[in-house]
Amino acid sequence: MSQTESPDILVSSPSIMKIDKIDKFFGGLHAVNQVSFDVKKGFIKAVIGPNGAGKTTMFNMIAGSCLPTDGRVLFNNKELTGKKPYRIAEQGLLRTFQNLKLCSHLSVLDNVLLGYHTRCKAGLIAGMISSKRSRSEEKEAVEKVMPILEWLNMADKRFSEVGNLSFGEQRAVELARALAPDPEMLLLDEPAAGLNMHETADLAGRIQEIRDQGRTILLVEHDMDLVMEISDEIVVLNFGKKIAEGVPSEIQKNEDVIRIYLGGDDA
Ligand SMILES: Nc1ncnc2c1ncn2[C@@H]1O[C@H](COP(=O)(O)OP(=O)(O)OP(=O)(O)O)[C@@H](O)[C@H]1O
Ligand SMILES: [Mg+2]
Repeated sequence: MSQTESPDILVSSPSIMKIDKIDKFFGGLHAVNQVSFDVKKGFIKAVIGPNGAGKTTMFNMIAGSCLPTDGRVLFNNKELTGKKPYRIAEQGLLRTFQNLKLCSHLSVLDNVLLGYHTRCKAGLIAGMISSKRSRSEEKEAVEKVMPILEWLNMADKRFSEVGNLSFGEQRAVELARALAPDPEMLLLDEPAAGLNMHETADLAGRIQEIRDQGRTILLVEHDMDLVMEISDEIVVLNFGKKIAEGVPSEIQKNEDVIRIYLGGDDA
């Protein structure tokens, strides 16, 4: 059940993230134009909009892989703007990618362990050195990530090379990798892209479960059925600008959204 059925809870909940007039130019292209919104702690917020609206660029700015031209991002009241992606991950903000970024020649388990090491004390480099400390941390890491693989029905495939998996399974590995460091908030960029109906329905349930564990989710997605089913709030971008924000029932009725995004006046 979406938490939006109690919109008062949404209004009174604290924000975990504040996007403040974030702006990005690529040369003369204004890809993201003075966009501001909050993300409430423990809720699912979706960012929707047509191709090229600036959704991924916004994610890249939040996650530190793209420097904003202007504006700022606060996470738990701390400035994220200008920080390196690994520093942002250390603070508990993890992401998945629209185009999967997995190491296809490594096993499922190794890919997920790479995610875990963003928060491991001995770190990735130490993890590669066979010291006693890193070996014990490696054992601990495997114990921590295996329940995630079991939850995603991927435990049996833990030693399979990622490049040999189906696309849906690779998407599951990407999600497991982002969950491995126990993030407080997840940025999911088109997690349903390329999934079949069955896999998409499964994903919808899992994203809600992740939220119900107390995590916050910011989701970019084109699958409107999925967005309307699981989102607590939605923000709509078009040509880099925010054109609407609200709960799903408000967005479905918004005339600008219907006209600009959902397919014309007859939609
Ligand atoms: N690195 C870049 N250099 C130049 N232009 C870019 C760059 N990245 C994105 N753009 C442009 O910025 C605009 C926004 O792109 P972005 O990828 O953020 O859109 P999107 O909303 O994620 O689209 P989609 O739904 O297709 O994934 C597009 O016009 C795109 O071509
Ligand atoms: Mg995109």
